[in-house]
Amino acid sequence: TTTHSTPHQKIRDLAKAKKAIILAHNYQSAQIQDVADLCGDSLEMSIKAAATDAEIIVCCGVRFMAETAAILCPDKIVLMPNPDAGCPMANMVTPEALLKRKEELGGIPVITYVNSSAAVKAVSDICCTSANVVQVVNALKEDEVLMTPDRNLARYAAAHTDKKVHLWDGYCPFHNDLSVEAVKASKAAHPKALFVAHPECTPEVLELADSIQSTSGMIRFVGESSADQFIIGTEIGLLHPISKAYPEKTFFPVSDQLVCADMKKTQLQDIWDCLENMSGRVVIEETIRIKAMDAVKKMINTK
Ligand code: 13P
Ligand code: SF4
Repeated sequence: TTTHSTPHQKIRDLAKAKKAIILAHNYQSAQIQDVADLCGDSLEMSIKAAATDAEIIVCCGVRFMAETAAILCPDKIVLMPNPDAGCPMANMVTPEALLKRKEELGGIPVITYVNSSAAVKAVSDICCTSANVVQVVNALKEDEVLMTPDRNLARYAAAHTDKKVHLWDGYCPFHNDLSVEAVKASKAAHPKALFVAHPECTPEVLELADSIQSTSGMIRFVGESSADQFIIGTEIGLLHPISKAYPEKTFFPVSDQLVCADMKKTQLQDIWDCLENMSGRVVIEETIRIKAMDAVKKMINTK
């Protein structure tokens, strides 16, 4: 009976009654991921948002993820349980500065990481995520591109293309801070483990990686690997879905410092509150939305 149901069950019941789908990023806290209909990386979240027939999308992550859902789904209600959760990297580029740089470079195409505002996406030619950046850069016909805002992701892409990739000076404060020394210490402590790293890490750290992957890419890599120990070179939240998917394997966080505070802002109660009160709605101004949608859809359609 409902009087004895848990917070988890109450949220599931409310989501069903409201015809809502709950999406959560792989870095969200364990209870949030466990209550969600789908957990994934940024690309999977945007594909799911675009395809769902739910009337309400509850997006547990940081603002750019909810904005991407709102960009793709103008007829749906997109709710952010904690509207204060943002990605610091997304604030490292503005549409004005980006347009100025694009003009200086003679109007070459701009590839923008989804970790960005809707207004920046609107002045970009195409978006990318950590899962598809190499496909996106190689799918463009031009041989020179500008990538924003993540300089580390851009350098990773540059290593996997013949094109000239111009950098923007943005970065993830947490992945960028992971030091070579910390990686070496972790490898020394766990000599049998493979090291998987997120492309937001510095090139020096990526050089030490056995594989470079998006968050969901790491989960797939572990499933395909014959190894049974892994050092996880991304935000510690990934430890939850990856150890849930492969309980027989062992995972070590590369550093206990790799914690994204904004990703931890969403609480279980926030999901209940936003669904009950229809609060935290994310709406993108229509002229911006149309242009941003073009860049996001081009990305989704890149094979
Ligand atoms: P993924 O798309 O790989 O999940 O990464 C999102 C992110 O914010 C990494 O810090
Ligand atoms: Fe942004 Fe870094 Fe947090 Fe990812 S981990 S949401 S890139 S600040």
